[in-house]
Amino acid sequence: PIQVKKICCIGAGYVGGPTCAVIAAKCPHIEVTIVDLNKARIDAWNSDHLPIYEPGLDEVVKGARGKNLFFSTDVDKAIAEADLIFVSVNTPTKKSGIGAGFAADLNYLQLATRRIAEVSTSSKIVVEKSTVPCRTADAMRTILEANSKEGCKFDILSNPEFLAEGTAIADLFAPDRVLIGSLQTQSGLDACQALMSVYANWVPKERILTVGLWSSELSKLAANAMLAQRISSVNALSAICEATGASIDEVAYAVGRDSRVGPKFLKASVGFGGSCFQKDILNLVYLSESLHLPEVARYWRAVVEMNEHQKDRFARKVVDTLFNTITGKKIAMLGWAFKKDTGDTRESPAISIANHFLSEKARITCYDPQVTSEQMWLDLTDYGSIPAEPIKPHFSVCQSAEEACANAEAIVICTEWDEFKELNWEKIYENCPRPAFVFDGRLMLDRKRLQKIGFTVVTIGTGDRL
Ligand code: NAD
Ligand code: UDX
Repeated sequence: PIQVKKICCIGAGYVGGPTCAVIAAKCPHIEVTIVDLNKARIDAWNSDHLPIYEPGLDEVVKGARGKNLFFSTDVDKAIAEADLIFVSVNTPTKKSGIGAGFAADLNYLQLATRRIAEVSTSSKIVVEKSTVPCRTADAMRTILEANSKEGCKFDILSNPEFLAEGTAIADLFAPDRVLIGSLQTQSGLDACQALMSVYANWVPKERILTVGLWSSELSKLAANAMLAQRISSVNALSAICEATGASIDEVAYAVGRDSRVGPKFLKASVGFGGSCFQKDILNLVYLSESLHLPEVARYWRAVVEMNEHQKDRFARKVVDTLFNTITGKKIAMLGWAFKKDTGDTRESPAISIANHFLSEKARITCYDPQVTSEQMWLDLTDYGSIPAEPIKPHFSVCQSAEEACANAEAIVICTEWDEFKELNWEKIYENCPRPAFVFDGRLMLDRKRLQKIGFTVVTIGTGDRL
């Protein structure tokens, strides 16, 4: 059997960093080097301020760094030395060209693959960790074979990552499953065994699933599409609840108690965000269309459309409730990240909501415990493509929830940070003009308590026909 002694991970992002840091922590006999072209990111991984916030990550990195875990910009050296290479680069939605707005941009993946072929002087196991369209491994194999040196053999595995941000370390320590896809050839099965033996250092064998390469690639898109579909379904029902007097939390509780449905991922919200759900569903839509399956494409596209509708519906509800205008009004936004316990803001519903409020010329004060003001401005200006000057008088970043809420005509919860439950809501109420409104986009606050204080509370999925 192939013994994995050195691992290289290309891409030191939200996936590559935590996954390979955990491999290093759990496999002291394996040397793990995580590389990236982005020097600032690598410098941060080597510092006391890691580039991403994730509960438990600091301990894992500090425990292994400098022993068997290294972060470097020397991509070529790490590739050349490794027996097994994870490719964990970004695969965003294409912005232009064929498939723009739907298909995955595989440029980063292909550049990394080409580099592997060019630099390798020995055989490698190449592992797709990035989320990719079904049959990407075929393209990788063509690139590797066309550019490789004599005597170098490449086996490609698919090993999609199922961690969720905010719980990445817990998810990696105790995954529901690890999925490995390989070609069903002897060489493919041997490579699969080698990767299995890495995970077997801490993951029980029955949780390591081995399947064909294409099933593995498609399973990742399928898993995200199914999870997002639950949220869009519950959000669609939340609109019916608001109109009827039913309560979405009660409906979700009742439905989720059916063991065939299960209780998780049924929380109504202001809409799902994050770098994966929308991108991966659009990818699936594109795949379906390319396969001449327009009805299938339409079905999955509706999951994303419902999500857009939910964000828009919530923002409109704020405006409607504030007597149809928020022009010049101060609105406090609590939370900017796409979920709690992360500083990641990619596709965060807060961004869409803020844009809606800005188009109505409101004045926003925003607080998030983990997102920097630089990041909020990058999001608001779409990374510099929208001028910041006109927005400046309308958006300010605060250092605490209390500061953001002072004198606000409405308080809008966009992210379910635990600390928002513990706020001194009595004191906040004293500093708000009347009537004082709280819009709970995450169904996280004690509605009755806030109403008792004097707030008018508007919650997703709860009508006022109680
Ligand atoms: P990310 O943008 O945080 O990290 C990717 C990193 O790869 C960047 O730092 C970039 O500089 C680097 N990179 C790009 N091309 C490179 C190259 N040729 N050589 C070296 N470095 C290169 O992205 P992420 O969130 O870590 O996602 C990575 C992949 O994992 C994506 O395909 C994504 O869909 C998938 N995924 C993400 C999550 C998640 O929760 N974020 C979960 C599961 C799967
Ligand atoms: C997701 C998948 O869960 C994970 O398996 C995959 O590897 C990457 O994509 P992530 O995007 O990090 O993970 O977070 P997740 O917990 O799935 O939340 C995504 C979005 O859905 C968040 O905006 C969250 O607030 C929202 N959500 C989640 C709901 O609105 N309701 C729910 O019940 C659950």
